[in-house]
Amino acid sequence: MTIFAELKRAKFMDTVVNNIRITKTENSRLSQVDFDNLPFGKIFSDHMFEIDYSDGAWQTPTIVPFRNLDLHPATSALHYGQAIFEGLKAQKSSSGEILLFRAVDNAKRFNESAERMCMATLPEEIFVEGLKTLIDLDRNWVPSNEGQSLYIRPFMIATDDYVGIRPSEKYKFVIITSPVGAYYSDPVKVKIETYYTRAAEGGVGRAKAAGNYASSLYPAKLAAEEGFRQLIWTDAKTHTFIEEAGTMNVVFVINDTIITPDESKDTILKGITKRSVLDLAKDWGYKVEERAVKVDEIIDALKNGTLQDAFGAGTAATIAPISHIGYDGQTYELPSIESRTFSNKIKAHISEYKKGNIDDKFNWLIRV
Ligand code: PLP
Ligand code: COI
Repeated sequence: MTIFAELKRAKFMDTVVNNIRITKTENSRLSQVDFDNLPFGKIFSDHMFEIDYSDGAWQTPTIVPFRNLDLHPATSALHYGQAIFEGLKAQKSSSGEILLFRAVDNAKRFNESAERMCMATLPEEIFVEGLKTLIDLDRNWVPSNEGQSLYIRPFMIATDDYVGIRPSEKYKFVIITSPVGAYYSDPVKVKIETYYTRAAEGGVGRAKAAGNYASSLYPAKLAAEEGFRQLIWTDAKTHTFIEEAGTMNVVFVINDTIITPDESKDTILKGITKRSVLDLAKDWGYKVEERAVKVDEIIDALKNGTLQDAFGAGTAATIAPISHIGYDGQTYELPSIESRTFSNKIKAHISEYKKGNIDDKFNWLIRV
């Protein structure tokens, strides 16, 4: 981009983000919320951010009282699944500041998903400023009890009212927020899936596309009938390499080495929590290996006692220790949660980092 074009864009962005049209609610629901008993994702804050894309441009951003969307029955997202989302969290610091964790990374990933799903991309400034303005307005909704946070759900849907197949020309980007408690209250029992597939190379597994979650429900339901809480997906071709869990990336510790599937194939969501885990682990001097991880290697390590730790990493779940792994009709029990030096340490550290109690040496926090 030339300097002139860059300046023009900066001026345009300035106009967009400084002109968020705000309509405040006259009936806050805040007093009805039982902050001592927060479920995950069922309670929504007073306001939402909205911006529409049409005629090749993003229109006026608005913040309005939380409400239902009014959609034409032919809305293309409902038929053909041009729908993507993000998930991130805001936390209250001990001094009462609101802190957003790695929001710019979510904005970047959102646009990678948009590109893959052939949707309009959203300037990062709109994503981040929209978030900040919304959360500032609803700052009293950010919970402060241990283990709680404000879960933030930006999403975008294709809104052409057209039942022919083509990339939509209109989109709606929305941010809603929800004060939440823990996603998993207990360590998770997972099953390594060797028949169903979450993502194939060349598919949309790397995108945070709505359909990826829909397609995981049936295999997850079958696994739940066998007593498993989550699936660990394997590669579509051979089902012999570990990929990720349904809503988390997976990390193992074998012989004091942190091991996790690499992201070179486009089948794995590039998790921000996992990246934070790896960045911190490297900083602490741990040996970290991002590479292809064979199912057999994990099962062998389980059998010979060298698997010290295994956990899922994701925004909603944070660090979720894995208690059991089911594979090929057998269920293996993992080392006790108390014995797990790495996941206990990283879980506590990330939690303190998000609350601003640790020097932000990686520049991950945005203050609202
Ligand atoms: N993998 C999938 C399929 C997910 O839905 C998520 C959740 O966002 C993750 C991994 C973890 O990503 P992140 O840590 O960015 O939340
Ligand atoms: C997240 O961790 O933000 C997720 O996307 C999980 C979600 C599907 C609940």
